[in-house]
Amino acid sequence: MSSKIGTDIHQAAAFLKAGKLVAIPTETVYGLAANAFDTEGVAKIYEAKNRPQFNPLIIHTDSIEKLTSWGLTLPPKAQLLARSFSPGPITFLIPKSAQIPDIITAGTDAVAVRIPDHPLTLKLLAMLDFPLAAPSANPSGFVSPTTAQHVEKQLDKKVAYIVDGGNCKVGLESTIVSFLDDNKPKLLRYGGLALEDIERIIGKVELPKQGFSDNPVAPGMLARHYATRHPIILGNPETSFMDYNLDKVAIISFYKKYAQVPEKQQFILSENRSLTEAATQLFAAMRQANDLDVAVILAEIFPDEGLGKAINDRLRRAATL
Ligand code: TXA
Ligand code: MG
Repeated sequence: MSSKIGTDIHQAAAFLKAGKLVAIPTETVYGLAANAFDTEGVAKIYEAKNRPQFNPLIIHTDSIEKLTSWGLTLPPKAQLLARSFSPGPITFLIPKSAQIPDIITAGTDAVAVRIPDHPLTLKLLAMLDFPLAAPSANPSGFVSPTTAQHVEKQLDKKVAYIVDGGNCKVGLESTIVSFLDDNKPKLLRYGGLALEDIERIIGKVELPKQGFSDNPVAPGMLARHYATRHPIILGNPETSFMDYNLDKVAIISFYKKYAQVPEKQQFILSENRSLTEAATQLFAAMRQANDLDVAVILAEIFPDEGLGKAINDRLRRAATL
């Protein structure tokens, strides 16, 4: 194992203060972090990820008070949600303040903020008097990392340090809600906090148009994302069985086993039929399926409720058909 991986948050803080990149664990996925106020540090994020400059970044901190000190205010409905779910897998899109550099927001007037729920990262953030800009710690267009090893495999040479916080307990990126018009909160990305939980607190939220387009609301939400080496076909796997040699098929399923396909090529995300558990397994399964010598990945469509909506969203972005 590389000496770059560990739990030394003092070391991590020192690197961040010096303008270097550090990978950090969160409850959703690992982030590739830099001091959000250090525009050169932030530029390194774009370079390391090969990320288009028009795709803005979420800033992370450990308290609402710090947001206030940087001139950022959560509108009333966002505050209500923060009270219930922050720290947690929700990101608030709110009006930007002058202190937030344009490189963070891709020149727009809105900034995305979140308080991640991971003990090591919360401790690290508490040591810093600046927010951390952090996209998911994967090369642009790939599946997000849910372990320190995933980060090491793809970005080792590009980071000064990887804080190892174990497996991400949610496993899907945060849910993003826009409060630019607080009377009309808008869902920008399905994610680790279920829509039902959000609507229970603030009422109806405007949903993205059915199906994602290549002309997205959140600039990074391109329809084709999470590229896998093998094509992913979404739907009832059995309907594709006649089209493939079943020894060369991988399956991602909720709880069902398919007797016709070799067991080691099947990724059952939750034998207990828990969508929350399935969410924690999805990205690792996509990576492992990708590493197999198969021709295709057949993925079930998950129930359209709770985290199933976010799971289906990620699979749809990865799917070819
Ligand atoms: O769970 C998460 O949100 C993870 C962890 C590391 O916090 N982060 C994450 O970041 O998923 P990223 O960059 O991979 O995805 C953030 C999404 C992008 O689609 C981006 O376009 C959108 O948020 N976004 C960020 N700032 C925005 C802004 N100012 N306006 C509109 N969309 C924004
Ligand atoms: Mg990402």
